Amino acid sequence: MPLLLCHSPKGGVGTSFIAAQLAIALAERGHEVTALDFTFQDSLKLYFGLLPAQPLPNMVTHVGEATVVSGVELLAAHELGSDPGFRKRLNADAASPFAGDRFYIADLAAGDRETKELLLPHALLHICVMDPRPGSLVALSKVQPGTPTIELQNTAFILNQLDDTHRLSRHSHIFLRELVGDRLIGTVRRDEAVNEAAAMFEPIGRFAPASVALADLAKLAIAVERRCGLGLTPEAQS
Ligand SMILES: Nc1ncnc2c1ncn2[C@@H]1O[C@H](COP(=O)(O)OP(=O)(O)OP(=O)(O)O)[C@@H](O)[C@H]1O
Ligand SMILES: [Mg+2]
Repeated sequence: MPLLLCHSPKGGVGTSFIAAQLAIALAERGHEVTALDFTFQDSLKLYFGLLPAQPLPNMVTHVGEATVVSGVELLAAHELGSDPGFRKRLNADAASPFAGDRFYIADLAAGDRETKELLLPHALLHICVMDPRPGSLVALSKVQPGTPTIELQNTAFILNQLDDTHRLSRHSHIFLRELVGDRLIGTVRRDEAVNEAAAMFEPIGRFAPASVALADLAKLAIAVERRCGLGLTPEAQS
């Protein structure tokens, strides 16, 4: 059950963007991938190029055709955290919603600690997105309150919106690398094309295929595979 739980204690750092792009990159590498939007904001689909008015099928109640974009199945999962039926299925191994080989990538809102705590024991990896700003670094102590950052064994950090032309950005990168070592699995550069693509309701891969952020995300997908103990799929090898 490769559930990748994307949650940061700080909002606005790029968690939804990274969740969407990781899903797309893993699908391109031959994995079966479902992206789950657990947020009320419902903005994960924006990074797939969907319009705000296009509803996603609900993870539990949907029947019929799936919504598949860029090779990724998209499902709405808001309020599932407080659904008793979902909680029951989570704890019944045979009926687990995350059984099988498919990657499930969950996008959680920063403030939704309840769903984070519910899903964390079922996650193969917790992905914590950071940005190189004080608000994000200060929130490090809140990644798993009570557990020092250096002891977070199942958490992989991604530093998003990196800009090496700015000293604070470079220093934040060094600080995080020294603190968490190889649990910082990758960096993604700041690139205005991310916002431009979303504004045009296009996935960045189509809007700006030469985007530096996209190149970083391709490397990140490989780092996630390694961190999950997975190699290349036969499709990606051929
Ligand atoms: N690498 C990047 N370069 C430039 N802009 C980026 C990058 N990553 C994300 N952004 C922009 O930053 C903003 C926040 O991104 P996103 O919505 O993914 O963050 P979030 O952490 O999920 O926020 P929220 O707390 O609202 O859920 C968006 O406008 C997005 O387009
Ligand atoms: Mg978000």
